[in-house]
Amino acid sequence: MQIKELLLQSPSQQTVTVKGWVRTKRVSSSVAFIAMNDGSTIHNIQAVVSDGVVSEETLKLVTTGSCIAVTGILIPSQGQGQSVEVQVTAIQVYGTADPEKYPLQPKKHSLEFLREIAHLRPRTNTFSAILRIRHALAFAIHQYFNNHGFFYLHTPIITGSDAEGAGEMFRVTTLPAINPPLTEDGKIDYKEDFFGKETNLTVSGQLEGELGAMALSKIYTFGPTFRAENSNTTRHLAEFWMVEPEMAFFELTDNMNLAEDFTKSLISYALENCADDIAFLEKRLLEEEKMKKKEEQSEMTLSEKLRFVSENTFERLTYTEAIDILLQSKPHKQGKFNYPVAWGIDLQSEHERYLVEKHFKKPVILTHYPKDIKAFYMKLEDDGKTVRAMDVLFPGIGEIIGGSQREDDYEKLLQRTKDVGIEEDSIWWYLQTRQFGSAPHAGFGLGFERLVLFVTGMSNIRDVIPFPRTPKSAEF
Ligand code: 4AD
Ligand code: MG
Repeated sequence: MQIKELLLQSPSQQTVTVKGWVRTKRVSSSVAFIAMNDGSTIHNIQAVVSDGVVSEETLKLVTTGSCIAVTGILIPSQGQGQSVEVQVTAIQVYGTADPEKYPLQPKKHSLEFLREIAHLRPRTNTFSAILRIRHALAFAIHQYFNNHGFFYLHTPIITGSDAEGAGEMFRVTTLPAINPPLTEDGKIDYKEDFFGKETNLTVSGQLEGELGAMALSKIYTFGPTFRAENSNTTRHLAEFWMVEPEMAFFELTDNMNLAEDFTKSLISYALENCADDIAFLEKRLLEEEKMKKKEEQSEMTLSEKLRFVSENTFERLTYTEAIDILLQSKPHKQGKFNYPVAWGIDLQSEHERYLVEKHFKKPVILTHYPKDIKAFYMKLEDDGKTVRAMDVLFPGIGEIIGGSQREDDYEKLLQRTKDVGIEEDSIWWYLQTRQFGSAPHAGFGLGFERLVLFVTGMSNIRDVIPFPRTPKSAEF
């Protein structure tokens, strides 16, 4: 039985078997107390071994990190902190963990150190809590869409197009690195490659998602996406998971309404279903915050922050209005921003954070960005300068969602692809949906790890995915 279930049982002398990893063992007047965890819950179960029940040799092998099965009787706990414990009658040792070598001894480890042992860090309280929350959020995403009439569309991982037009792609090829076949003018001849053309790992499932929406009306994708951007930040991964709903007959406002309702309901789901793990991470965060200067400490605890976001409406304003606020802001006037502010700039994270954390003090949805800083597929406004884009910005995170209403006019879209230099024959199929039964439609992409960051209160994106992929790092 999993420890989570066992801890809910009422003790009536039943015999139980628990399997899991030893967190600690302490011996007091010939009685051994073993704290075990199997990852099903943040809570350990205590196994109590009275003198002489188990051989000396066996008990010696029970050390932090070892894996054991204990059999015993479930009794009300004498100690504090748990309602039941196991009065052990037998122990089976599955795998030992040499205390001289096992790196996860019961003491505080830095997150940096734990990143180096990502193969073992799920055995810590912090990471098991994060991984359980990550799972719960993934489940809640599927549940939300299923309840709202969306179909899960599996879009390809290997593509021949660059959905975002940012050129940050990982190439997929089977051509030899040395002496690849060349064309007459000396370039690599991709006609000889596996797919007979240049291919890459997808940066977004959106383009194919749109094809799905033009038939099934409401679809979503939820899969890994890859970006070869060389940004070594606490918010970027080279491999991350993105959730991309795409809806026919949705305009920009419908898209914003969905994005807001969706994120709020995911946060509420976590509050209701991951209370123990959130409580643990909240305590962890409070301790971490104590190290910070008073003015840098957050005003709310983790659960207060989550409740606040799930219960309050997001602020909605245009990019142009946001620029005006930034131009009027103290940090701008005092020259405190590192990047200049002017209409047309791509907002830097310092600007986004000012708007969200200092000015509005809540999530913000920015719309109507200049067309030149956004992707080619966004619907052009009548002003000819801005597009129906929307970014959702979260406190402590910055951009958590990027989306837009899509250009559904064939001629305008064709013109945009030409303007930005996308070859027509790489996305002829995308353009064709605007020739055959085109419809207004919209969608967005939620960065799954950024959501997990927000819900767990962690501060580095490398700590909310089991095995992070970042520049110069692909261990495990
Ligand atoms: O804003 P982005 O680039 O939008 C798209 O890819 C659209 N095709 C989405 C759509 O409309 N269907 O990325 C969407 C989100 C960002 O808001 C951010 O949360 C996350 O994906 N994201 C990253 N997360 C981690 N590491 C990275 N390198 C990320 N790049 C984007
Ligand atoms: Mg974006």
